[in-house]
Amino acid sequence: MNFTIATIPGDGIGPDVVREAVACLEAVGARFGHGFSFVPTLLGGAALDATGSPLPAETLKVCKAADAVLLGAVGGPRWVGLGGAHRPEAGLLGIRAALGAWANLRPALMFPELAAACPLRPELVEGGLDLLIVRELTGGIYFGERGRSADGESAWDTERYSKPEIRRLLGVGFGAAAKRSGRLCVVDKANVLESSRLWRETAEAMRSSWPGVELSFMYVDNCAMQLVRNPRQFDVIATSNLFGDILSDEASMLTGSIGILASASLGDGSLGPGIYEPIHGSAPDIAGTDRANPLAAILSAALLLRHSLHLEAEARALEAAVRSVLAAGLRTADIATRGGAASSERIVGTHAMGAAVAKAVAEADRPQRNQL
Ligand code: IPM
Ligand code: MG
Repeated sequence: MNFTIATIPGDGIGPDVVREAVACLEAVGARFGHGFSFVPTLLGGAALDATGSPLPAETLKVCKAADAVLLGAVGGPRWVGLGGAHRPEAGLLGIRAALGAWANLRPALMFPELAAACPLRPELVEGGLDLLIVRELTGGIYFGERGRSADGESAWDTERYSKPEIRRLLGVGFGAAAKRSGRLCVVDKANVLESSRLWRETAEAMRSSWPGVELSFMYVDNCAMQLVRNPRQFDVIATSNLFGDILSDEASMLTGSIGILASASLGDGSLGPGIYEPIHGSAPDIAGTDRANPLAAILSAALLLRHSLHLEAEARALEAAVRSVLAAGLRTADIATRGGAASSERIVGTHAMGAAVAKAVAEADRPQRNQL
């Protein structure tokens, strides 16, 4: 089969990691007999510099015509201080909205090989960690009305959700829980926020349609604490745009490094294809230095194979290749452990890590197990 993939390297380490993910997809294509056409396009700071807009019309055209979008990262100190619509991040939010990618799946899966990189006490994560944050991505306070008073002395942002927005997001949460261990925790701040109370009501109304799913609720402050106290109590967490942004960074660290976590942003497909991106940022301080971890981008490419191209065996092959490279001891600096137990580790750069995964794709036996 032939597929068209829009690639958005973006800013900072984005180009470094997308390059490796593309090489891995090419290895998957070669092994399984698929043709991928990669169409690079601009977003964020790179787009601002080239065109004056963080989301040029051409980028939207390229993305809408593609089967999937693979994105690196956007933003950096060069563009800090620009007004709202001219920030690189406005391009990212804009493309999510324009492609109708309202459900953001952020799996936090700990590879057993990286257990030593987890900052929690070993007994708290014994047996591994595998949770999924389902974050609402095109609503809430990131898209709500905002402004400043005429005298510039006050400013506001608005959290607003409609029942249909909540319902479709929770549908993804319930669906994911039903396929996994059957536990869905809706995270909110219903003791204070009216919008959170609407989330609870909507979830309650859906409960009877999902008899196999055990629904619970938790306040976001408590959830932030429980994630480090006892993360294994969670399976699927469904939450708003703002809370999901924050909690997914926290959850990622539990797995060892934010540098290995992938995400898929999906809608119903009517406005455009899914967007696949690492959950980490653009890390401008290490951009172009061959120090970034490409695994989050590579694992995002695996999610792309699974969710947009429906190539499950190919997705598993890529995930298995990542695992085999970790098992062989290769580590980028962010996931390396220091000390005696880690003596079998070898620290490598961005390109060597990506090339090792691509090589493992080409060489490995067919994998048996799903990784994400
Ligand atoms: C993320 C990022 C973005 C977000 C920023 C860069 C706008 O933090 O994808 O988590 O808040 O969604
Ligand atoms: Mg974030």
